Amino acid sequence: MASRPRWVIASFLACAMSGWANGEDVGAKDRQPESGVPLSTILEFETTARLLAVLLDSGRNVINEYQVLFDDQDQTEKDFTADQFERQLLEVFRSRSGIDLQEFDAARIPAEAKKLLEELVFLSKQVVAEAHAEVNRPGGGHKELIPAIFGARVATRFTERTHVRLKQTALAPRNPVNAPDAVERTALEAFADPSYPLEKVISEVTAKSKSLRLMFPLYTTRKCLECHGDPKGEVDRTGYVREGLRLGQNAGAISVVIPIRP
Ligand code: HEC
Repeated sequence: MASRPRWVIASFLACAMSGWANGEDVGAKDRQPESGVPLSTILEFETTARLLAVLLDSGRNVINEYQVLFDDQDQTEKDFTADQFERQLLEVFRSRSGIDLQEFDAARIPAEAKKLLEELVFLSKQVVAEAHAEVNRPGGGHKELIPAIFGARVATRFTERTHVRLKQTALAPRNPVNAPDAVERTALEAFADPSYPLEKVISEVTAKSKSLRLMFPLYTTRKCLECHGDPKGEVDRTGYVREGLRLGQNAGAISVVIPIRP
Protein backbone atom coordinates (compact mmCIF):
# COMPACT_ATOMS: atom_id res chain seq x y z
CA MET A 1 0.00 0.00 0.00
CA ALA A 2 2.91 2.31 0.75
CA SER A 3 3.86 2.36 -2.93
CA ARG A 4 0.44 3.58 -3.99
CA PRO A 5 0.63 7.23 -5.07
CA ARG A 6 -1.49 9.01 -2.58
CA TRP A 7 -1.52 11.65 0.03
CA VAL A 8 -3.31 11.59 3.28
CA ILE A 9 -5.00 14.37 5.08
CA ALA A 10 -6.74 14.35 8.40
CA SER A 11 -8.70 17.12 9.96
CA PHE A 12 -10.99 17.94 12.84
CA LEU A 13 -14.75 17.93 12.57
CA ALA A 14 -14.60 20.90 14.89
CA CYS A 15 -13.40 22.98 11.93
CA ALA A 16 -16.33 25.20 11.07
CA MET A 17 -18.07 23.75 8.04
CA SER A 18 -18.40 27.18 6.48
CA GLY A 19 -14.64 27.51 6.73
CA TRP A 20 -14.26 24.25 4.91
CA ALA A 21 -16.67 25.31 2.23
CA ASN A 22 -14.64 28.45 1.61
CA GLY A 23 -11.40 26.57 1.41
CA GLU A 24 -10.11 28.18 4.59
CA ASP A 25 -9.03 24.89 6.03
CA VAL A 26 -6.05 25.11 8.32
CA GLY A 27 -4.47 21.94 6.93
CA ALA A 28 -4.63 23.04 3.31
CA LYS A 29 -1.12 24.42 3.24
CA ASP A 30 0.32 21.01 4.07
CA ARG A 31 -1.26 19.32 1.14
CA GLN A 32 0.38 18.28 -2.07
CA PRO A 33 -2.12 18.00 -4.89
CA GLU A 34 -0.02 15.47 -6.79
CA SER A 35 -3.17 13.94 -8.23
CA GLY A 36 -3.31 16.81 -10.72
CA VAL A 37 -6.66 17.87 -9.33
CA PRO A 38 -6.83 21.51 -8.15
CA LEU A 39 -6.71 21.86 -4.39
CA SER A 40 -9.94 23.86 -4.34
CA THR A 41 -11.71 20.97 -6.07
CA ILE A 42 -10.34 18.49 -3.57
CA LEU A 43 -11.47 20.67 -0.66
CA GLU A 44 -14.95 20.84 -2.13
CA PHE A 45 -15.11 17.09 -2.49
CA GLU A 46 -13.87 16.65 1.04
CA THR A 47 -16.52 19.01 2.39
CA THR A 48 -19.15 17.11 0.43
CA ALA A 49 -17.96 13.72 1.74
CA ARG A 50 -17.87 14.97 5.31
CA LEU A 51 -21.35 16.49 5.15
CA LEU A 52 -22.79 13.29 3.67
CA ALA A 53 -21.26 11.26 6.52
CA VAL A 54 -22.62 13.71 9.13
CA LEU A 55 -26.08 13.53 7.57
CA LEU A 56 -26.15 9.72 7.43
CA ASP A 57 -24.93 9.55 11.02
CA SER A 58 -27.54 12.13 12.09
CA GLY A 59 -30.27 9.87 10.69
CA ARG A 60 -28.77 6.89 12.49
CA ASN A 61 -28.83 8.85 15.73
CA VAL A 62 -32.46 9.91 15.36
CA ILE A 63 -33.39 6.25 14.82
CA ASN A 64 -31.24 5.28 17.80
CA GLU A 65 -33.08 7.74 20.06
CA TYR A 66 -36.41 6.25 19.00
CA GLN A 67 -35.59 2.60 19.77
CA VAL A 68 -37.36 2.64 23.12
CA LEU A 69 -40.55 4.02 21.58
CA PHE A 70 -40.46 1.51 18.71
CA ASP A 71 -40.18 -1.44 21.09
CA ASP A 72 -42.57 -0.15 23.78
CA GLN A 73 -45.45 -2.58 24.08
CA ASP A 74 -47.70 -0.34 26.16
CA GLN A 75 -47.71 2.45 23.65
CA THR A 76 -49.86 1.18 20.81
CA GLU A 77 -50.11 4.56 19.06
CA LYS A 78 -46.44 5.13 18.35
CA ASP A 79 -47.07 7.50 15.54
CA PHE A 80 -43.53 7.92 14.29
CA THR A 81 -43.95 9.56 10.91
CA ALA A 82 -41.49 10.28 8.12
CA ASP A 83 -42.19 14.02 8.50
CA GLN A 84 -41.42 13.90 12.19
CA PHE A 85 -38.23 12.01 11.39
CA GLU A 86 -37.23 14.58 8.77
CA ARG A 87 -37.68 17.49 11.18
CA GLN A 88 -35.44 15.81 13.73
CA LEU A 89 -32.93 14.76 11.10
CA LEU A 90 -32.56 18.35 9.87
CA GLU A 91 -32.31 19.61 13.44
CA VAL A 92 -29.57 17.13 14.42
CA PHE A 93 -27.70 17.86 11.19
CA ARG A 94 -27.95 21.61 11.76
CA SER A 95 -26.62 21.35 15.30
CA ARG A 96 -23.70 19.22 14.17
CA SER A 97 -22.74 20.96 10.94
CA GLY A 98 -24.03 24.50 11.40
CA ILE A 99 -25.90 24.11 8.09
CA ASP A 100 -29.65 24.57 7.83
CA LEU A 101 -30.85 22.42 4.95
CA GLN A 102 -34.14 24.29 4.94
CA GLU A 103 -32.23 27.42 3.99
CA PHE A 104 -30.44 25.59 1.22
CA ASP A 105 -30.00 28.52 -1.10
CA ALA A 106 -28.26 30.51 1.59
CA ALA A 107 -26.00 27.66 2.72
CA ARG A 108 -22.41 28.25 1.68
CA ILE A 109 -21.65 24.76 0.50
CA PRO A 110 -20.58 23.37 -2.89
CA ALA A 111 -23.42 23.05 -5.44
CA GLU A 112 -22.65 19.36 -5.85
CA ALA A 113 -22.96 18.87 -2.08
CA LYS A 114 -26.41 20.45 -2.07
CA LYS A 115 -27.74 18.03 -4.68
CA LEU A 116 -26.30 15.03 -2.88
CA LEU A 117 -27.49 16.12 0.57
CA GLU A 118 -31.00 16.66 -0.79
CA GLU A 119 -30.95 13.18 -2.26
CA LEU A 120 -29.73 11.71 1.03
CA VAL A 121 -32.52 13.44 3.00
CA PHE A 122 -35.06 12.17 0.45
CA LEU A 123 -33.82 8.57 0.70
CA SER A 124 -33.58 8.67 4.52
CA LYS A 125 -37.20 9.77 4.67
CA GLN A 126 -38.20 7.12 2.15
CA VAL A 127 -36.60 4.35 4.23
CA VAL A 128 -38.41 5.57 7.36
CA ALA A 129 -41.73 5.88 5.50
CA GLU A 130 -41.42 2.31 4.23
CA ALA A 131 -40.75 1.06 7.77
CA HIS A 132 -43.83 2.88 9.07
CA ALA A 133 -46.00 -0.20 9.51
CA GLU A 134 -43.17 -2.08 11.21
CA VAL A 135 -42.22 0.59 13.76
CA ASN A 136 -45.80 1.55 14.51
CA ARG A 137 -46.85 -2.08 14.93
CA PRO A 138 -48.79 -2.36 18.17
CA GLY A 139 -47.20 -4.33 20.97
CA GLY A 140 -43.64 -4.70 22.08
CA GLY A 141 -40.69 -6.62 20.81
CA HIS A 142 -37.75 -5.85 18.66
CA LYS A 143 -38.38 -3.74 15.57
CA GLU A 144 -36.27 -3.94 12.47
CA LEU A 145 -35.45 -0.28 12.15
CA ILE A 146 -32.19 0.00 14.10
CA PRO A 147 -29.40 2.47 13.23
CA ALA A 148 -27.33 -0.02 11.21
CA ILE A 149 -30.29 -1.31 9.19
CA PHE A 150 -31.53 2.22 8.52
CA GLY A 151 -27.98 3.26 7.54
CA ALA A 152 -27.46 0.25 5.29
CA ARG A 153 -30.75 0.73 3.46
CA VAL A 154 -30.12 4.42 2.90
CA ALA A 155 -26.48 3.86 1.90
CA THR A 156 -27.37 1.13 -0.62
CA ARG A 157 -30.00 3.27 -2.33
CA PHE A 158 -27.74 6.32 -2.33
CA THR A 159 -24.89 4.34 -3.88
CA GLU A 160 -27.25 3.05 -6.59
CA ARG A 161 -28.67 6.46 -7.41
CA THR A 162 -25.57 8.66 -7.30
CA HIS A 163 -21.89 8.32 -8.19
CA VAL A 164 -20.98 8.43 -4.49
CA ARG A 165 -20.50 5.28 -2.41
CA LEU A 166 -21.62 5.24 1.22
CA LYS A 167 -20.94 2.33 3.56
CA GLN A 168 -20.91 1.53 7.27
CA THR A 169 -17.96 -0.51 8.42
CA ALA A 170 -16.17 -1.83 11.51
CA LEU A 171 -13.03 -3.88 12.25
CA ALA A 172 -15.03 -6.88 13.48
CA PRO A 173 -18.35 -6.40 11.70
CA ARG A 174 -21.52 -8.19 12.76
CA ASN A 175 -22.58 -8.32 9.14
CA PRO A 176 -19.83 -9.55 6.73
CA VAL A 177 -21.20 -7.16 4.08
CA ASN A 178 -19.76 -4.36 6.24
CA ALA A 179 -16.22 -5.80 6.27
CA PRO A 180 -13.57 -3.13 5.60
CA ASP A 181 -11.32 -3.01 2.52
CA ALA A 182 -7.60 -2.23 2.96
CA VAL A 183 -8.02 1.57 3.06
CA GLU A 184 -10.94 1.32 5.49
CA ARG A 185 -9.07 -1.12 7.73
CA THR A 186 -6.08 1.21 8.08
CA ALA A 187 -8.35 4.09 9.13
CA LEU A 188 -10.37 1.89 11.51
CA GLU A 189 -7.16 0.74 13.19
CA ALA A 190 -6.20 4.38 13.72
CA PHE A 191 -9.66 5.19 15.16
CA ALA A 192 -9.44 2.17 17.51
CA ASP A 193 -6.34 3.58 19.21
CA PRO A 194 -7.60 5.16 22.47
CA SER A 195 -5.18 8.07 22.01
CA TYR A 196 -6.65 8.93 18.57
CA PRO A 197 -8.28 12.41 18.62
CA LEU A 198 -12.05 12.40 18.84
CA GLU A 199 -14.02 12.91 15.63
CA LYS A 200 -10.94 13.39 13.49
CA VAL A 201 -11.79 12.14 10.02
CA ILE A 202 -9.22 10.56 7.71
CA SER A 203 -9.35 11.35 4.03
CA GLU A 204 -7.16 10.71 1.05
CA VAL A 205 -7.10 11.21 -2.67
CA THR A 206 -5.80 8.42 -4.81
CA ALA A 207 -4.16 9.64 -7.97
CA LYS A 208 -4.75 6.36 -9.77
CA SER A 209 -8.44 5.97 -9.13
CA LYS A 210 -9.08 9.73 -9.03
CA SER A 211 -11.34 9.46 -6.07
CA LEU A 212 -11.58 11.02 -2.67
CA ARG A 213 -12.08 8.64 0.22
CA LEU A 214 -13.19 9.77 3.64
CA MET A 215 -13.57 7.79 6.83
CA PHE A 216 -15.84 9.29 9.48
CA PRO A 217 -15.54 7.67 12.95
CA LEU A 218 -18.64 6.58 14.90
CA TYR A 219 -18.82 6.48 18.71
CA THR A 220 -21.13 4.70 21.12
CA THR A 221 -23.82 6.50 23.08
CA ARG A 222 -25.62 4.86 26.01
CA LYS A 223 -28.32 3.52 23.69
CA CYS A 224 -25.84 1.77 21.38
CA LEU A 225 -24.54 -0.16 24.38
CA GLU A 226 -27.88 -1.91 24.84
CA CYS A 227 -26.77 -4.00 21.86
CA HIS A 228 -23.02 -3.43 21.49
CA GLY A 229 -22.08 -3.14 25.19
CA ASP A 230 -21.82 -5.58 28.11
CA PRO A 231 -22.24 -8.35 29.00
CA LYS A 232 -19.71 -9.15 26.31
CA GLY A 233 -20.35 -12.46 24.56
CA GLU A 234 -24.05 -12.54 25.44
CA VAL A 235 -26.67 -12.26 22.73
CA ASP A 236 -28.49 -8.90 22.36
CA ARG A 237 -32.14 -8.54 21.38
CA THR A 238 -31.28 -8.62 17.68
CA GLY A 239 -29.66 -12.05 18.07
CA TYR A 240 -26.04 -10.89 17.66
CA VAL A 241 -23.28 -11.35 20.23
CA ARG A 242 -22.47 -8.19 22.23
CA GLU A 243 -19.00 -6.75 21.66
CA GLY A 244 -18.59 -5.29 25.17
CA LEU A 245 -17.97 -1.76 23.87
CA ARG A 246 -17.69 1.09 26.41
CA LEU A 247 -19.45 4.44 26.40
CA GLY A 248 -17.87 6.85 23.92
CA GLN A 249 -15.66 4.18 22.37
CA ASN A 250 -15.14 4.04 18.62
CA ALA A 251 -17.66 1.65 17.10
CA GLY A 252 -16.70 1.76 13.44
CA ALA A 253 -17.01 4.33 10.68
CA ILE A 254 -18.92 5.64 7.73
CA SER A 255 -16.89 5.30 4.56
CA VAL A 256 -17.44 7.72 1.66
CA VAL A 257 -15.93 7.36 -1.83
CA ILE A 258 -16.40 10.20 -4.33
CA PRO A 259 -14.92 9.96 -7.83
CA ILE A 260 -13.18 13.18 -8.78
CA ARG A 261 -13.72 14.60 -12.22
CA PRO A 262 -11.06 17.25 -12.79
C1 HEC B 1 -31.02 -2.72 18.66
C2 HEC B 1 -29.62 -3.10 18.72
C3 HEC B 1 -28.61 -2.12 18.17
C4 HEC B 1 -28.42 -0.83 18.53
C5 HEC B 1 -29.22 0.01 19.53
C6 HEC B 1 -27.27 -0.37 17.78
N1 HEC B 1 -26.80 -1.36 16.98
FE1 HEC B 1 -25.20 -1.26 15.76
N2 HEC B 1 -25.71 -3.02 14.92
C7 HEC B 1 -26.70 -3.86 15.38
C8 HEC B 1 -26.88 -4.94 14.45
C9 HEC B 1 -27.90 -6.05 14.57
C10 HEC B 1 -25.94 -4.76 13.43
C11 HEC B 1 -25.75 -5.62 12.19
C12 HEC B 1 -26.81 -5.18 11.20
C13 HEC B 1 -26.77 -5.94 9.91
O1 HEC B 1 -27.23 -7.08 9.90
O2 HEC B 1 -26.29 -5.38 8.93
C14 HEC B 1 -25.21 -3.54 13.76
C15 HEC B 1 -24.20 -3.00 12.99
C16 HEC B 1 -23.47 -1.88 13.30
C17 HEC B 1 -22.39 -1.32 12.53
C18 HEC B 1 -21.89 -1.82 11.16
C19 HEC B 1 -20.77 -2.78 11.28
C20 HEC B 1 -21.23 -4.17 11.65
O3 HEC B 1 -20.97 -4.56 12.82
O4 HEC B 1 -21.85 -4.86 10.81
C21 HEC B 1 -21.92 -0.24 13.20
C22 HEC B 1 -20.78 0.67 12.79
C23 HEC B 1 -22.75 -0.10 14.39
N3 HEC B 1 -23.70 -1.09 14.41
C24 HEC B 1 -22.61 0.92 15.31
C25 HEC B 1 -23.62 1.26 16.19
C26 HEC B 1 -23.69 2.52 16.93
C27 HEC B 1 -22.60 3.59 16.90
C28 HEC B 1 -24.87 2.54 17.60
C29 HEC B 1 -25.47 3.66 18.41
C30 HEC B 1 -25.60 4.94 17.71
C31 HEC B 1 -25.54 1.28 17.33
N4 HEC B 1 -24.75 0.55 16.47
C32 HEC B 1 -26.74 0.90 17.87
C33 HEC B 1 -27.45 -3.67 16.53
C34 HEC B 1 -27.59 -2.45 17.17
